[in-house]
Order: sequence, then C-alpha cells, then structure tokens
Amino acid sequence: MSNEEQAGQTEQEEPMAVAAQWVATAKNIVVLTGAGISAESGVPTFRDAQTGFWSQYRPEDMASQTGYRANPAMVWRWYEYRRELVAKVEPNAGHVALAAFEKTHKTGQFTLVTQNVDGLHQRAGSSDVLCLHGDLNTQAWLDTPKDCCHLDYAEAGDPPHCDQCGNLVRPAVVWFGEALPYRVLDRAQKASEACDLMLVVGTAGAVYPAAGLARLASRVGAKVIIVNPSVSELDDAADLIVRSPASVALPWILGTGETRIAA
Ligand code: APR
Repeated sequence: MSNEEQAGQTEQEEPMAVAAQWVATAKNIVVLTGAGISAESGVPTFRDAQTGFWSQYRPEDMASQTGYRANPAMVWRWYEYRRELVAKVEPNAGHVALAAFEKTHKTGQFTLVTQNVDGLHQRAGSSDVLCLHGDLNTQAWLDTPKDCCHLDYAEAGDPPHCDQCGNLVRPAVVWFGEALPYRVLDRAQKASEACDLMLVVGTAGAVYPAAGLARLASRVGAKVIIVNPSVSELDDAADLIVRSPASVALPWILGTGETRIAA
C-alpha cells in the first residue's frame, strides 16, 4: 500500500471508529438504505438499467400506471428484465452486516428501511425490512381486485391477468404519481421519531418522503451518520459522515466483520 493510500485509509478509520462507538451505545437504531448499498453487488439503478434496447423508453412510461395501461407487455418485460438482473447478483458485505446486526442488537429497537426494490436485504437474511418503494419480486393487481381476481391463479400472459375480468397483474413497486405504502411509511416514520441513532447508507437523499426520515430523526435529536463515498443532499443533516463504500464501512461500524474485531 502506498503512503497516500495508507493516509486515506487512516482518515476514514477515524469517522468509522466514532460511528462504531455511537452504534455500540445507541438503543433504538434506524438504518435507511438506498441504491448505493446494492451498487457493489452490481444492481444497476432504475436509470442505469435503461441501457441498450430499453434506452428508447422514458422512465415515466416504464414506471407509471398510465405507461402500463398504454403498453402492458412492454412494461411487464422491462420488469422481468430487471428481476432477471437482480436474480443473478448476490448480497454484499453491507447487506450481510445489517442482517447480522439485526440478530445481535438486543438493547433496543432495530429498524431497517430501504428504498431499494431488489430484495437483497431479505436474501442476506434481514427478516423485517420496510420496503418504502415496494418489492420487485412481489405482484399486485393494477385495479382494485374483484372476487374473481386471485393472484395464485392469474392467467399466464404478458402480463398475467385475471381470466374473468381482465384485471392486470403488476409489479408491487411504487410508480411515479403513486403514494408510498401507508403502513410501511407509518412504521418507518414512528421508528425515526423514536430512534437515537440513524444510519443513512447509499442514498443521494433527493427523493422524499424517504429522505425526510433522516431529517425527522435529526429534528428529534437523534445522531445521524451518513455512509456514502460521495456528497449527498442529506449531508447538512449529518452529525458524522463516513466517506466509504457501504461494504467496507458497515461491517466495521456495526461490529459484525473481521476488520473491526481485528482493529
Ligand atoms: N456505498 C455507499 N453509497 C454508495 C456506494 C457505495 N458503494 N456507491 C454509490 N453510493 C451512493 C452514491 O454516491 C449516491 O449518493 O449511493 C447513492 C445512490 O443514489 P441514487 O442512485 O439516487 O439512489 P437512491 O438515493 O436510493 O434513490 C432513491 O429514487 O430512483 C428513485 O425510486 C428510486 O428508490 C430510488 C430513489
């Protein structure tokens, strides 16, 4: 390792050590994650996935009720393409550290809130994930289901539909112009109000109400730690910023990885 690299590493270890100290003494902890935590697993963001064939379509047409009604087969295939991308990747050390921490944090509440729809937290072993923007691998009905609509035996097709009324199956993700799932958001807000520490990991902090959770926690006096190699729009709400990738910082900060044990 060069002297420069060594200096950079030491610079980052200091905030990580402070963060680890805060985590070790906190009772109620909320973690809010975004696309950055899955970037190291190779999950492209919504916009990054719009490459090649898909680059000809506008995001609003791929992720809105209007777009789906206009071209259900195209939108359904776009989500199948994204489900296939996600199925090929694995959770990384950041996801794994959070799943391990959930099992060991016994002194208070631990709440994991994510804006990601990729299911990697669940695959890493987190058992209670508040998915603010839904879940790519879950389906729902486009229109209010009638008695004839049963997801279990929706007619196969592109996309699947109710064989009696034609109601379309859709991915259970939050589209442009739609509200976040009320109960999930409510739990996330209550946990943010009641926490004494919030970790904000891998989010640009530009999309609300998700980003508002960090501001809420800060307002009620919780310490806010940001883990992000780059500047984010929530930096002004942070008490501490760790400028490292999530896969490096989280095992360290949460005390679940070898790096911290050896340090
Ligand atoms: N570790 C931590 N953070 C990282 C890493 C990493 N290895 N790599 C990138 N980041 C950071 C980037 O610096 C950026 O700030 O992750 C953030 C990703 O930002 P966005 O792509 O805007 O993702 P996010 O904030 O989750 O977007 C929120 O917007 O696109 C919609 O609904 C979609 O849920 C998404 C929401």
